[in-house]
Amino acid sequence: MEKINKIGEGKTLRIISDSPQFTRSLGKLIGLYAEAGDIICLEGELGAGKTCLVSGIAEGLGINEGIFSPSFIIVAVHRGKLPLFHIDLYRLEEGEITKLGLEDYLYDEGVCAIEWAEKAKPLIFSDHLWVNISYQGNDKRLLTFQSRGNRYDKLLEELREFARLST
Ligand SMILES: Nc1ncnc2c1ncn2[C@@H]1O[C@H](COP(=O)(O)OP(=O)(O)O)[C@@H](O)[C@H]1O
Ligand SMILES: [Mg+2]
Repeated sequence: MEKINKIGEGKTLRIISDSPQFTRSLGKLIGLYAEAGDIICLEGELGAGKTCLVSGIAEGLGINEGIFSPSFIIVAVHRGKLPLFHIDLYRLEEGEITKLGLEDYLYDEGVCAIEWAEKAKPLIFSDHLWVNISYQGNDKRLLTFQSRGNRYDKLLEELREFARLST
């Protein structure tokens, strides 16, 4: 599973998670590795585990407060080692997203984690990590990481190594 295949420009890594704790630990690694301007895009149905992964990213950034997907908040800002901009596009139509000024966050000093990122795909031009989470029954999830850019290629290596050591 933890093989990195080159597909097109980026690389792909697939990891099976057997628990929310493991998904969170993968997020934590992303948070520990994070630098200002990082963009983490999350795709997956409701209950897949996107927010769970973001809570791990927050932990890696040293953020102690809870991470939720609140119904009425589109962007939640959390202060840690770097600010985390937790964006949830669930409630927005694609037309509304173009008016959101997402670019302001994408090129900011912080780390941007975007749930339902597929809705904003045409607006994401810069390098990023794309994460697709799919339900595999009970507590099992397939996480597919795709890198776009060298920095994220390296992050994929870190994630691969971490998953290898965890199994
Ligand atoms: N392996 C797993 N990874 C992530 N979440 C899991 C896993 N197994 C079970 N879960 C549960 O699935 C739910 C995921 O919820 P959440 O992260 O809010 O999803 P989303 O943000 O994608 O809608 C949580 O209740 C979590 O405990
Ligand atoms: Mg969510």
